[in-house]
Amino acid sequence: MGREPTRLLFVCLGNICRSPTAEAVMQQLITASGLDSRFEVDSAGIGGWHEGEPPDRRARKAAARRGVHLRGSARTITAADFDRFDLIVSVDESNLAALRRLAPAGSRAELRKLAPEDVPDPYYGGAGGFAAAFDVIEAACARLLDELRQD
Ligand code: 4NP
Repeated sequence: MGREPTRLLFVCLGNICRSPTAEAVMQQLITASGLDSRFEVDSAGIGGWHEGEPPDRRARKAAARRGVHLRGSARTITAADFDRFDLIVSVDESNLAALRRLAPAGSRAELRKLAPEDVPDPYYGGAGGFAAAFDVIEAACARLLDELRQD
């Protein structure tokens, strides 16, 4: 009997830049490490302004340059997510605070930040911000997977 996969949910504000990038980077690392049966990944946003939209074109471009293809459409986090996922990973402190406010009492998921530093919000900046965010996300996902695969 295989054990249940560990379910990871990456969260940012809009679910069109940072969290879809983290989802895709992590999925690629998981697959490259032969760990597809052990982990499932998804992403969501705190806010619903971009509900249903594909990842931001600038985020897709920054990721594609590094060989990562962003998929999916934006969705807002739900109360059920706090029980469905084992670990909910915020890209920054303000979205972590929002997760703590939104978490239903007694829900199962562990809440944490992707990296000690915040992943800077690239939405209102230029292309350099997207490349910088990608670099932080890539390094942090590698560290997180190294940690989780030991369990
Ligand atoms: P994300 O970036 O949280 O990394 O997806 C943003 C996307 C949209 C907005 C802010 C940040 N917004 O204000 O609409």
